[in-house]
Amino acid sequence: ATSERYAVRRLPFARLGDSDVAFFERVMPGRVVTGEEEVKPFNVDWLKSVRGCSQLVLKPQTTAEVSQVLRYCYERNLAVTPQGGNTGLVGGSVPVFDEIILSTALMNRVISFDKVSGILVCQAGCVLERLSEYLEEQGFIMPLDLGAKGSCHIGGNVATNAGGLRLLRYGSLRGTVLGLEVVLADGSAVDCLASLRKDNTGYDLKQLFIGSEGTLGVITAVSILCPQKPKAVNVAFLGCQSFAKVLETFTTCRAMLGEILSAYEFMDEKCMELVERHLKLSSPVTGSPFYVLIETSGSNSTHDEEKLNNFLEQATASGLVTDGTVATDDKKIKALWSLRERITEALTHEGYVYKYDISLPVGKLYDLVTDMRARLGQSAKSVVGYGHLGDGNLHLNITAESYSHSLLDAIEPFVYEWTARCSGSISAEHGLGFKKKQFIQYSKPSEAVALMQRFKAMLDPKGILNPYKTLPSAPESSTR
Ligand code: FAD
Ligand code: MLT
Ligand code: ZN
Repeated sequence: ATSERYAVRRLPFARLGDSDVAFFERVMPGRVVTGEEEVKPFNVDWLKSVRGCSQLVLKPQTTAEVSQVLRYCYERNLAVTPQGGNTGLVGGSVPVFDEIILSTALMNRVISFDKVSGILVCQAGCVLERLSEYLEEQGFIMPLDLGAKGSCHIGGNVATNAGGLRLLRYGSLRGTVLGLEVVLADGSAVDCLASLRKDNTGYDLKQLFIGSEGTLGVITAVSILCPQKPKAVNVAFLGCQSFAKVLETFTTCRAMLGEILSAYEFMDEKCMELVERHLKLSSPVTGSPFYVLIETSGSNSTHDEEKLNNFLEQATASGLVTDGTVATDDKKIKALWSLRERITEALTHEGYVYKYDISLPVGKLYDLVTDMRARLGQSAKSVVGYGHLGDGNLHLNITAESYSHSLLDAIEPFVYEWTARCSGSISAEHGLGFKKKQFIQYSKPSEAVALMQRFKAMLDPKGILNPYKTLPSAPESSTR
């Protein structure tokens, strides 16, 4: 069980009783899930690497219901884990012990969409892909896209400050989220759901909740700025003979594609082997140690294709790229994106996955993979590197047949020390959740962590919201 592997002690929260369940049944009849089998999927994370033992899932439909639930839990001292699509990769979305799971699955209403401003207001439980489909019908897109789009909720995306595949072009949620509605631990609702591009009235409170991983409040609604759907999208999938060439290709590509560049992703040959072996995907480009996926999004297909072709000619002539293919139609574009997006899924077929999500100076991005491979030798099944190169974000993944404590000890804290030496971040986009919270000091000074702890104590004095997550626990209970 999670608590055993990580040696965490249960904090003295109240235990759930029959009268509590009866209360919730009165608040939301028929939307209270009990029974071990029914609750089980909510207790286990996407990677199947951590597991809680909650006995109760609540599925509110409205902000008022979330308020009622939290007011009650606060008074009773019952701990709560907010959960969206449960696709988080750091063990933040599932309980550690018996925390009540507050699921946003039924909070899936679009509240408004303004076609002039491109501002969407919706409930937190809207699935990202559903929102994308809704917007595309009206000539817009969501400013973020990620492999988990079919399951993740916009509230979960905001709570983790998810980056994803379009950040290079449209920026982070810290810029595109215009407003939030949040329910605090004591049940009070804070309506900062502004739909304005500019609003400098006081502190920007929404920023505190973006990336707070369910520890400061439950996000119930989101206002977000959505870009126009690009008229022309092209994808190039290219092979490079070294990581130095991947970097040089990026520089050339930025210079030559300029404003139409919308993604620059990379993966190594090991990743390609895994998607081919486990998912039976086949790549039209083979035989290179590195691959890059370049996407352009613009308003004029002739203009964009000409720019892309000029770039490809130059990259090929100068030997930066040795092989490649270009897609302009939707089907081929999707097939090429699958090679990159489905690496996460392919990795799970290997056994246990040790997942690291690191920000580094882009020039050093792959050195960590090479060093880790040399360090682990035969003790790991695969050591692979891929990620959002355009954002300086490496996904280093190590697999083994099953979880092993000695392999974990060989990886950590080495990986964090390596990252800190380069002034990188030990979590670029996935957050700290349960698995990484004890390592925050590698990326933040103690004064910053202390200030975070003061915010937590102010907003959630009893600590009922997603306990054991994000912030390090007191030394006596962190015996991992
Ligand atoms: P959950 O997993 O349910 O929850 C995540 C955290 O947010 C938890 O701490 C939870 O308590 C909290 N939370 C959820 N909803 C709320 C709410 N309404 N209010 C307050 N707190 C809440 N991440 C990236 O950044 N970039 C990627 O490219 C990317 N790709 C992915 C691809 C795959 C295949 C998978 C499985 C995951 C990927 N992720 C990626 C991880 C990413 O964190 C999630 O996919 C997503 O942002 C989480 O949304 P969710 O609704 O599933 O949240
Ligand atoms: C990705 O970029 O594919 C995601 O962040 C998921 C992962 O790291 O595997
Ligand atoms: Zn990612």
